[in-house]
Amino acid sequence: MTLVRIQTTMSNEISKRLFITRPPEPPHEFLLNDPTDSIFIGTTKVFKVPFTWTFSMLTNPHVSVVGITGAGKSFFVKTFLTRASYVWNTNAIIIDWAGEYISWVKQSGGKTISFSKGDYLNLMDLSGMKPIDRTKQIMNSLDILTDIAEYPEQRRLTEEAIEQSYVNAGFILASPPPPDKEPPTLKDVTSLLDEKLQEGTYEYPAELENTIYRLRQFSREGEDYFANKSTVDIGKLASSGLIDIDLSSLPDERFRAMAALFILQTLKEKMRMEGWSASAGIKTFVVLDEAWKVASDERSDAVTIIREGRKYHFGLIVASQNPTDVNEAIFSNAGTTFMLRIRFEKFMNYLQGSLNFSDFIRSEISKLGVGQAAVDMAFNTGVQFPNIFMIDKIVGELPLDTYLVSISKILNQDEIEDNTIQKEYSFDKMSLSSKLIESGIGSDVVLKFISKLGDQGNNIDIITFIKLLLGEGVSRDSVISLLRGMGLKDELVSRVFKNFV
Ligand SMILES: Nc1ncnc2c1ncn2[C@@H]1O[C@H](COP(=O)(O)OP(=O)(O)OP(=O)(O)O)[C@@H](O)[C@H]1O
Ligand SMILES: [Mg+2]
Repeated sequence: MTLVRIQTTMSNEISKRLFITRPPEPPHEFLLNDPTDSIFIGTTKVFKVPFTWTFSMLTNPHVSVVGITGAGKSFFVKTFLTRASYVWNTNAIIIDWAGEYISWVKQSGGKTISFSKGDYLNLMDLSGMKPIDRTKQIMNSLDILTDIAEYPEQRRLTEEAIEQSYVNAGFILASPPPPDKEPPTLKDVTSLLDEKLQEGTYEYPAELENTIYRLRQFSREGEDYFANKSTVDIGKLASSGLIDIDLSSLPDERFRAMAALFILQTLKEKMRMEGWSASAGIKTFVVLDEAWKVASDERSDAVTIIREGRKYHFGLIVASQNPTDVNEAIFSNAGTTFMLRIRFEKFMNYLQGSLNFSDFIRSEISKLGVGQAAVDMAFNTGVQFPNIFMIDKIVGELPLDTYLVSISKILNQDEIEDNTIQKEYSFDKMSLSSKLIESGIGSDVVLKFISKLGDQGNNIDIITFIKLLLGEGVSRDSVISLLRGMGLKDELVSRVFKNFV
């Protein structure tokens, strides 16, 4: 026993010493890959190695991304997908919770699918699956999203009615479906249960009524997004270039999660049938941005897909503001995790616990600015080296110009070291213009200002920023309202103006 303890102490000492002589980055050969077979992300912080990402040396191609709002998660995802499509010709399906990718996807020539515009998904579509398996998946989604598991009788009634609807539509429960047969919908399921209620012979009518009520939530007129013949073929979307599935117009989180679970189940099934082969590489990236229970629940396919590693032709990218909304299994199994700016200790503890990084890395993460990141990679090798490293900045691939306004000049040393204070505010050209216009500045002035700003490069300090605005004849009140609109506290706003008396 004592022996073991001495050894542990020694290896701790050794690792501390190693840490001093060899800074914590994986060897170059793991970071710098063939540019025709990898995607550029950014330069590493210590050795300034251009880091290019590829899945070939990783345990799996799945990626998780965390960081507070504005940290640059969506920016990263867009950059990543754009380059992946250049390099590998990969397709992408974005399960777009908040509708934040729509305009980018349109700009990039992709397609959007929107439930407000008459698109439907039939939850009972089989996509080649046996009805009995599909029924289990639907029940699994209901278990995750509702409390049906606590009501075994209702659960049983639902499951039976779903199976019966398949049988009534001419399917054989345990056989693969004939390709041209039309599957039933949830409306058929509720009708079946309604008939049973009308017959009046069922022993627990209240249970039956509650069962019908539950299913009606997803099949009511006007909210029957998942209870009509599908207008989109999810399986086909996996090879259709860039697709945004906009969930933002669905009535609530439960509907969004239902759609997300259905899409993941369908893709997974389709890719399982195709089987994995190393030569096929990654055919598709599926993005799940802010996915609530879909990323957190143990039973969700998001968790299963990442756990199952390299089994499918697709990579799943899970992005979230709140790491505790992401199941630990996702962090500990994803081949790559990008940690962007994180503010709360609670989140940091959770991440440090899941990924097991040093306090040094922890302190580095807490100092990150917009677009900067720590990267954790699970390499497929017996060779031991640090698998977490810092990158200077994710180098973007967006058509929009981005400006960073730094307020460090008006902060004191203590504040500069305080990680809870935001020090950089970033804008793309469009959002800065609209913020300026919102704060009452004329559009001709805005155009002139933006062009002058461009001359300064993309990083600007707040004092120069305001000098330029005042120089264009913008009133103090408009500037104040702009600064407040950026989220600057009143106290900081007045500090800024102390420089202009
Ligand atoms: N690496 C980067 N380089 C330059 N600008 C960036 C970078 N990352 C993010 N930005 C800019 O910062 C702003 C916020 O980024 P983004 O929308 O990606 O944040 P987010 O983490 O997705 O936030 P949310 O959680 O609110 O969706 C955007 O205007 C974006 O253009
Ligand atoms: Mg985002």
